[in-house]
Amino acid sequence: NNHLTTSHTSITASRRDMEFEADQITLIGELGEGQFGKVYKAKARFVNDYQGSTIVAVKTVKAHASSEVRDDMLKELRMMMRLLDPHPNVVTLLGYCTKSDPVMLVVEYVPNGDLLTFLRKDRTTRNVTYANLHTESRTLQNTDLISFAWQVSKGMCYLASMQCIHRDLAARNVLVGEHKTCKVSDFGLAREGPEYKKVKDSPLPLRWMAPETLSIDRLYTTKSDVWSFGVLLYEIVTLGSTPYPTMTAQQAAEKIQRGLKLQKPAHCTDDLYFIMENCWHFLPDERPPFSELSAALSRLIMDEK
Ligand code: ADE
Repeated sequence: NNHLTTSHTSITASRRDMEFEADQITLIGELGEGQFGKVYKAKARFVNDYQGSTIVAVKTVKAHASSEVRDDMLKELRMMMRLLDPHPNVVTLLGYCTKSDPVMLVVEYVPNGDLLTFLRKDRTTRNVTYANLHTESRTLQNTDLISFAWQVSKGMCYLASMQCIHRDLAARNVLVGEHKTCKVSDFGLAREGPEYKKVKDSPLPLRWMAPETLSIDRLYTTKSDVWSFGVLLYEIVTLGSTPYPTMTAQQAAEKIQRGLKLQKPAHCTDDLYFIMENCWHFLPDERPPFSELSAALSRLIMDEK
C-alpha cells in the first residue's frame, strides 16, 4: 500500500479493490494532454466485476515527472475516491494502477470530448445552417445551452456537498457524453476544504479566477468556484469565446481585482445574464450557492418549453 501514501494521507483499505493490474489495461489511442501527462483511450478488463472489456480513459503521469506532479495526481485520485456515489454530471473514477510506471488513473470514458471544443464546433455548423437549412436540426438550440449550464451546476452541487473545491472550473474541463450529457472533469487542482494554494510553475487560469483568488491570499472556496461557473456560463452562451477577449490574461486579472465584470454577450437573455452577474459579486458570501443556481437554471429551461 506504500504506492498511495504521500506526505499527508493514504487511501483507505476499503477501496483497495479499485487497484488494477497493469495487464488489465490496453491503451488504444491518445485523447489529449492532461495536467500531468497524456490521457489515453483504453480497454480495461473486469471493470466493476463486469466480465468483459470496457472502454475507459486513462490518465498517466509524464515519464520523468517530478515527485510533486506525481503527488498532485495522487491528490486527484484521493479526491475522486471521496466521491463514493457516482453522479451523472461528474466524471467517475473506475480505478487506478499504481503498480505500473507511469501510474495510471482510470476514469469513465466520455465520448464527445470537452465542452469548449464541442461549443466551438457548433459555430461552424451554425454558419453552414444559413446555406443549408437541413443541417439546422444538428445544431445546438438555446435549451441545449441552458441544459449544459444546468447539468454543470448539478455536478458542482454534488462536489460542493462533498466539500470538494474544483479550482479550475471552465468549459475545457467539462466533458460531453452521450445525449449531450455534461460531466465535470479534471480534479487535478481540486482540494478538500478551503485552503491557500501555493503557486507552482503551472499557468493559472486567470480569466476564470475570482478576485479573492487573484489576490495575494489566493483564497479558493466553493464561492470562487461559483465565480468560475459564471465565466463558464459566458463561454456557453458565446459558443466558446475567450473571456475578456480584448485583454491579455494579466490585464484581465488586474481588472477583475479592481471590480471589472464581463459584459452581457450578444444573444444572451437578460435572465441568463442576471444569473451570471450574481456569480460575480465581489464579496464571495453574496454569490449564490450552486443549489440556487441549479434551481434558477431549471426555471429557465421550463420557460423555454
Ligand atoms: N479526455 C480527457 N478525459 C477524457 C475522458 N474521461 N473521456 C474522454 N475523453 C477525455
